[in-house]
Amino acid sequence: MTLGELIASGARQLEQAGVAFGHGTTNAHDEAAWLVLWRLGLPLDSDLDSMKNQPVAPASQAQVATIFEERIATRKPAAYLTREAWLQGVPFYVDERAIVPRSFIAELIAGGGIDEFLSDQTRRVLDLCTGNGSLAVLAAMAWPEVEVTGADLSPDALAVARVNVDRHGLQERITLAQSDGLAALPGPWDLILCNPPYVNAASMAALPPEYRAEPELALAGGDDGMDFIRQLLADAPARMGENAVLVLEIGNERPYFEAAFPQLPVFWLETSAGEDQVVLVTRQALAAHHPHTAQ
Ligand SMILES: C[S@@+](CC[C@H](N)C(=O)[O-])C[C@H]1O[C@@H](n2cnc3c(N)ncnc32)[C@H](O)[C@@H]1O
Repeated sequence: MTLGELIASGARQLEQAGVAFGHGTTNAHDEAAWLVLWRLGLPLDSDLDSMKNQPVAPASQAQVATIFEERIATRKPAAYLTREAWLQGVPFYVDERAIVPRSFIAELIAGGGIDEFLSDQTRRVLDLCTGNGSLAVLAAMAWPEVEVTGADLSPDALAVARVNVDRHGLQERITLAQSDGLAALPGPWDLILCNPPYVNAASMAALPPEYRAEPELALAGGDDGMDFIRQLLADAPARMGENAVLVLEIGNERPYFEAAFPQLPVFWLETSAGEDQVVLVTRQALAAHHPHTAQ
């Protein structure tokens, strides 16, 4: 079999098994290519067109077959099998203790989509709900002059974040902290990035097994998905600098967000997923919304 035939055959198997995508790929071909290249020890950015006719030895074919069997039998996201996920061209270690990196905030950090809301005074950046640490790492890479704190409630997630901070040699610039929301994080922060648990209860009940393989703490946001966000928006203004902003991912929950905070003026930031997934809120807007908590 050739490399191209192995990928096509793997893609057919994934489709027939009805696996779900969304943890780094969006379709069977891309996921099959990822698994085949990884199993064969080839770079994930290989030029498949020029390599597709390369023959693959029977022993390697057998190894590839095993990884597809595992993907289909366990229904775990591919990244939990390969122990690696890529975001904005940056590799991250990942395992079942933390969610697979895929936040759309990563695009905004790397693409300059937040920069107009920052200034030369922006120094203290908080990645709240850091999980695997990917947004903290990308923030430290994008803004060399800032110091980043990555915080999470889960010690397991923080252990994964630690691997990624060390892997990228950012120990001097990124501090990891355990905190329930902002409770242990007085600030004042100049920028808060947050990809929180925001999946509503009905959506949680309908999630494919790939998402159930991830920590529930990372996804479940209560009945309307807004439990964590409600507390965060109330607590945030007192912990933000005068001109600070909060960048918050809310996934597909815009209707719930708008129902929960109808009076709050926000900026919807455009990502490859559209204009509904990430909001930016200024401290001033939050303080006006929660005047009693903004000291
Ligand atoms: C959707 S994941 C985001 C992970 C990572 N920032 C990313 O974008 O890939 C949400 C994270 O929030 C954490 N979390 C859940 N409840 C929390 C709380 N009350 N305080 C702090 N972190 C919390 C979870 O442990 C999980 O790591």
